[in-house]
Amino acid sequence: MFHLLKDDDLTPEQMTRVLRVAADDAPAERALAGRSVLLVFLERSTRTRVSLEVAVSGMGGSPVLLDNLRSRLADGETLADTGRVMAQYVDLAFIRAYQQDVDAFAEGFGKITVSAGSDLWHPTQILADLLTLQQEFGDLRGLPVSYVGDGNDICNSVMLGCCALGLRVRVATPPDHRPAGFAIERARRACERSGGELELFTDPVKAVAGTKAVYTDVWRSMVPDDEHERTERFAEFGAYQVDEKLFGHAAPDAVFMHCLPARRDEEVTSSLLDSPRSVVLRQARNRLLVNRALLRLLPDFARGD
Ligand code: CP
Ligand code: NVA
Repeated sequence: MFHLLKDDDLTPEQMTRVLRVAADDAPAERALAGRSVLLVFLERSTRTRVSLEVAVSGMGGSPVLLDNLRSRLADGETLADTGRVMAQYVDLAFIRAYQQDVDAFAEGFGKITVSAGSDLWHPTQILADLLTLQQEFGDLRGLPVSYVGDGNDICNSVMLGCCALGLRVRVATPPDHRPAGFAIERARRACERSGGELELFTDPVKAVAGTKAVYTDVWRSMVPDDEHERTERFAEFGAYQVDEKLFGHAAPDAVFMHCLPARRDEEVTSSLLDSPRSVVLRQARNRLLVNRALLRLLPDFARGD
């Protein structure tokens, strides 16, 4: 069954098609008329959930939300069993959850399942980011981009999604927070196919030097916010804060990127986040365009078209 659970579940040609349809964003008010799309959110979300609801309803469909507080998941019904039942009602589901839960749901559901972000991957976010880079710089092939901070879900998907389309990706993380080996391996294999490059650093200046985009994300993922940990976070990651000085090592026309939500004056200075070089709101806007493109194209991809 076709699923989009990590970035290379789409071929580079399919990714390019998504970006083309998203950039075009042709009206499709009736494209989902009479159809329901299941949105399973077991973890918190602002952008992904709302942009999906807006995309589905704007295309004439009905978004149906399932969470773990008010559903029978709270009583211990498994995700696989839930998926099997949901397949009786809908043909397409997006799910935000830990990867093992995403996989369990997808197996039970047995129909098109799209990750809405897990602890390992966030493929729809990176499609929106690639669209943002394309709008800014045109051709993506060979474009040098950097990611600085925690080797987390966003880092994995930046590596894999960008490498799949032939970008040159430079990642800097503290030694104890490198991205997972399996994600590095996948990204390297994508580079072999696309001509992209992946380099890993511990020195953020070396990673950022000359790149056209500097991307960062929170220093703690998928956990409740805890102000008390702030000192600990700075001890581990302080040298990786993206501030104007670090950003100054990037190309003169570089953009600052962040998937949001950001923790101001932690992984990025508030002033850089709000500066004219910051494209974070365009990234958020592009989530909507990419959702609409995926809603149009996923059935074609599942049929092998
Ligand atoms: N960027 C992103 O996925 O944001 P949410 O967690 O608010 O959906
Ligand atoms: N790394 C962040 C991304 C949020 C969109 C998290 O997983 O919380």
